[in-house]
Amino acid sequence: MIITIDGPAGGGKSTVARKLAAVLGIAFLDTGATYRAVTLAALRRGVDLEDTAALSRLASAVKIELLPGRDGTRVLLDGADVTSEIRSAEVSDNAHYVAGSGPVRAVLVDLQRRIGSVLGNFVAEGRDQGSVVFPQADVKFYMDASPEVRARRRFEEMLASGQEAEFRQVLEAILLRDGRDQSRPVAPLVKPAGAIKIDTSHLTADEVAAELLRHVKERP
Ligand code: DC
Repeated sequence: MIITIDGPAGGGKSTVARKLAAVLGIAFLDTGATYRAVTLAALRRGVDLEDTAALSRLASAVKIELLPGRDGTRVLLDGADVTSEIRSAEVSDNAHYVAGSGPVRAVLVDLQRRIGSVLGNFVAEGRDQGSVVFPQADVKFYMDASPEVRARRRFEEMLASGQEAEFRQVLEAILLRDGRDQSRPVAPLVKPAGAIKIDTSHLTADEVAAELLRHVKERP
């Protein structure tokens, strides 16, 4: 079984995708991690982020592995664990260069499909999973919440983890990412055909996971 969850940043997709995968006893495929790993490699090697050809050479040259584990997926870049490094603000702020490049996307879509074929049954989460990568998915979801709600959640997460944050800035960053995800020429964020839309603005992660599970169980 293949389930896809797409939607904008901060909609709680990964928490819910992880929960749903755990309840169903299948794997979780975090495709954002592949874009983040290439971004980290580019930053470390000083590759010009505006040089699409150099980025696609880099994406083909590096080895990215996603290892499912008890405490979530570990991400390896050329054999080294980069699970926490790929979540840095620097990587988050620069990932759009990598995600906006058609040739890089081709390499990473191919990687995601290869990982998917090894996993067999999985919940894939990203921006183009139901539209481009796994259009044959059994159930497709599109998860959204208002920018204010997504910014509030992110803001609270940052405070809880001891980071300094200003709500206004967090909201602006969310709006900037939405604009980039939706307006890029290759694989823009769209609601895939046939996807079930879930507005998570007024739901907890557990409620959303229960709602998704209900749809999965009720599918024809
Ligand atoms: O979901 P995330 O924040 O980990 O995504 C990191 C970056 O990768 C972000 O710029 C969106 C992009 N992305 C994408 O373009 N397509 C995907 N399937 C997953 C993520």
